[in-house]
Amino acid sequence: MEASPARSGIMFSARQHTGPAFREALTADGVLRDLGTKRLGSRIEVYPELASTNRTAHALAEAGAPDGAIVIAESQTRGQGRMGRTWVSPPNLNLYISFVLRPGLDPAESAKTTLMAAVAVADTLKDHVPCTPRIKWPNDILLRGRKVAGILSELICEPAQTVFVIVGIGINLNYPRTRMSPDIRERATSVMEEAGAPVDRLPVTRSLVRNMESRYIEFEERGFAPIARSWNAYARMQGCRVRARTSEGEWVGRVRELDGNGFLVLECDDGRTERVVSGDVFLMEGAP
Ligand code: BTN
Repeated sequence: MEASPARSGIMFSARQHTGPAFREALTADGVLRDLGTKRLGSRIEVYPELASTNRTAHALAEAGAPDGAIVIAESQTRGQGRMGRTWVSPPNLNLYISFVLRPGLDPAESAKTTLMAAVAVADTLKDHVPCTPRIKWPNDILLRGRKVAGILSELICEPAQTVFVIVGIGINLNYPRTRMSPDIRERATSVMEEAGAPVDRLPVTRSLVRNMESRYIEFEERGFAPIARSWNAYARMQGCRVRARTSEGEWVGRVRELDGNGFLVLECDDGRTERVVSGDVFLMEGAP
């Protein structure tokens, strides 16, 4: 059985004063303090432990949770990653958050909210670390070549209509690399490792919610093109030689851009142009 939230409705749980700000517990009232958003954070539930915030957000959405509802957990026992992987989610160190979105967009457009979220995470992290975040296709966020955040989205739609999207984001905030298991330590980092000091998780959470809302409104009002431009700027992949492993085959070529459809366009070595919709892309060589 899943843990119960501290209260029903807009959730408030007792704030624990356990010392320095970076140790402050994530609470709904803490996230709501001076948040200033119009849509995201319409309802906030914070749990000490969940199997997965995505699963709980999905159940809430099925039960009618509004656009902008947010689920946060201090730890996850079955945090879900891409491709069936596990997202390691130790308590009180990081951010595990899922958004219920009900965009006024058709399903093909709504599917791009995961790319939008990658841009919002990069917008957020750039204010907390001395280096520029990089997006790795499709939506990993890296700091100095190591993964700091990942996104897992789920789209529920009817033939011509989006019912809801769950956008789940995990960000390593105060996770010491010494506490990561050896298999992920070489590829992963945290904001604390890059900033050189622990970060206060509440301001980072509020900033993420605000950036998600700005990008969400931008997407609905102006379409995907401005987000694709930001994605390309954060990815710094244009002109890079890559190997793409997709369900349709394996291609080697240079990246032209993320296009307005959310496809990664490759100019392949054999002269063909291919569009990567999903799958993994590995960097072979930087831009010429
Ligand atoms: C990835 O593999 O890169 C995606 C990781 C996504 C992890 C987040 S943590 C919050 C949300 N709940 C989950 O179970 N997964 C996502």
